[in-house]
Amino acid sequence: MERPQKPQPHGPARRLASEDSVVLVGLMGAGKSCIGRRLAQRLGRRFVDADTEIERAAGCSIPDIFAEHGEAYFRSGERRVIQRLLQTPGQVIATGGGAFMDPETRAAVAAAGLSVWLRADLDLLVKRTSRRDSRPLLRGGNPREILQRLIHERYPVYALADVTVDAAEGPPEATVERVLESLYPKARKSAPAGTHA
Ligand code: S3P
Repeated sequence: MERPQKPQPHGPARRLASEDSVVLVGLMGAGKSCIGRRLAQRLGRRFVDADTEIERAAGCSIPDIFAEHGEAYFRSGERRVIQRLLQTPGQVIATGGGAFMDPETRAAVAAAGLSVWLRADLDLLVKRTSRRDSRPLLRGGNPREILQRLIHERYPVYALADVTVDAAEGPPEATVERVLESLYPKARKSAPAGTHA
């Protein structure tokens, strides 16, 4: 059987504009919130974590939403919250791992800015997600097997993002630097705080 080709890191078709939001996508444990927060600081922009906003809107934690109402309910709330967040231009938004799988969300993200897939390999995802037991999808079985299945299902869709950046192990600053280089292709090596807002 032919091995699927690993998608190569690539850059966006255009540079990031001040009104564009930057939307981070990728699997649980890829570092979307950690990188997003630092990226927002570097860009002098506001950072929002979609999962935190969903919990705020629901008044309870994501595990509780899953337990009490189920995944479908969570997904529709997630879609609504992200649509709302995208109405404010120029933010850096970290999304939950399943958000970009929704076609409506992908269309809304494309209309509001640039999407960045933080791609990470299975070992790194397993290591990072094992630190916290707050992800309902990983509770139902062997986390490595679940993440492997999600890689298979989701990576072809994440690959539709404007930018793919490898979220390798190491200092988050290095990943932030790679994201900045992708968002401002051929412009400069780094973006000092506030200069691109
Ligand atoms: C999910 C990822 C989680 C959270 C929810 C579902 C997913 O967010 O939205 O548990 O479907 O991959 P993180 O990717 O921030 O862990």
